Amino acid sequence: MRQTEVLVVGTGIAGCAAALGAAREGANVLVVTKAERPEDASSDWAQGGISTTGTDPERFKQDILAASADTADEAAVDVLVENADDAVEDVLVDTLGVEFDLDAETDEFDYTREAAHSEERILHVDASTGKHILRPFLRYLDDHENVEILEDTAALQLITHEGRVHGAMLDTETTGEPVFAGTTVLATGGIGDLFARSTNPAGSTGDGIAMAALAGADVADMEFVQFHPTAFAGEEPFLLSEAVRGEGGLLRNAEGERFMPDYHPDAELAPRDVVARAVQDEIDATGEVTLDVSTLEEPFAEAFPDLAAKCEEHDVDWESGIPVAPCEHFLCGGVDVDDRGQTTLDRLYAVGECARTGVHGANRLASTSLLEGLVWGLRAGEDAVGVEPEPVEAPDLLDRDPDLPPRFAAEKFHRLRHVMDEYLGLRRDPADMARAQGVLRRLKGEVDAYIRTRTARDLYELRNASVTALLVARAAADNEESVGCHYVVEAADEEATATADD
Ligand code: SIN
Repeated sequence: MRQTEVLVVGTGIAGCAAALGAAREGANVLVVTKAERPEDASSDWAQGGISTTGTDPERFKQDILAASADTADEAAVDVLVENADDAVEDVLVDTLGVEFDLDAETDEFDYTREAAHSEERILHVDASTGKHILRPFLRYLDDHENVEILEDTAALQLITHEGRVHGAMLDTETTGEPVFAGTTVLATGGIGDLFARSTNPAGSTGDGIAMAALAGADVADMEFVQFHPTAFAGEEPFLLSEAVRGEGGLLRNAEGERFMPDYHPDAELAPRDVVARAVQDEIDATGEVTLDVSTLEEPFAEAFPDLAAKCEEHDVDWESGIPVAPCEHFLCGGVDVDDRGQTTLDRLYAVGECARTGVHGANRLASTSLLEGLVWGLRAGEDAVGVEPEPVEAPDLLDRDPDLPPRFAAEKFHRLRHVMDEYLGLRRDPADMARAQGVLRRLKGEVDAYIRTRTARDLYELRNASVTALLVARAAADNEESVGCHYVVEAADEEATATADD
């Protein structure tokens, strides 16, 4: 029977930071990920960078609050701001030796700026900061005597007993194997796979959120799904970092007109939700939006060599503007946690994108997600130690028929994504949100019927996706107020406005 003091599910920056925090306290830590390679996490794909507090922590706090339309939890923002610079210096610079870009003239850090930041305060390595943080982090943990990392190992379900969490059922080839843990830390990332277009890696199916909710933990702010304004508009979207606009990139519609000044005084550097809706409006009205990189101070290929390489890979000629469109990017809500990542269930923590700390409110400020994962991961890891694992009765995951009908999961996922794209995108109509709940409830019922007799990993992933999608739909339908990335419009009103404009 396998036991560990701390079980961490997920290998992005938040999971790594939790493992580090616990291991530094002397705990034995088992880290599992369903990915085939631990680095296949959203953090690895992060481009722009990681924010520091800049010249003035209070100003950073005010920027976070303003980007969130004043819905972020001030106490949580204080925790982030007070711990930001120490965490970056201690873990990223001193422990991992991350070589952030330096200014060629001063040899000091080359801080950049992104939308809704009032100054340049973001550390980066080109525009592929995530992998320059995550890979050394994983190497460091791999060498740590207290930490074991298992890849290709999905957590299927939490083990609970009398309101406490005692670990998780992990998948072996066909069936669930219990791992008993003193504490369990969920760090499973986002929900990009619930939408057809996302900047997340495949497998971002809200697993931690669904497992926690099914075990009885509270979730919050699930309606706040953030869409990034500038993903490549082609078949395979990839992110074009806000740093490009921070360095002077402009958005133009199909007529070549710069339109953002008509939408917001901060133009291209307005909060992300505002820019995303404006980009979609201009696509709808004119057919296309492009990111003009000819206005950058430095040539694009020199300022953003990795993005230029990505454009080349996708045959995009950036000199004539890069076609962009909004695309699902980040969930601001998730499993409700306190300032140490503790959920409402005893011995269960959640950190990173699957958690709702309150820092982001209804709309997240750019380059605060790696930071939040780092700060809350460390705090949760430190807090999670000192509890002995207690083997309790584990759920009996049925293994009678591990095979699913061909294309079962693929077809259900297709239906689910269609509902999320159509009804829970950038603009949401109350009647559509009600419809979405009906379809998703039926879909979840069909998946549950299979779960009663089968233990295939993709079936559990599908269940997690359908539970999480339903939580998003429910939260969206329950919130009638347009705020941040939850934008409610009556389709009938929109049509009336369009007719009046004609
Ligand atoms: C970006 O580089 O535009 C993404 C940064 C973020 O999501 O915080």
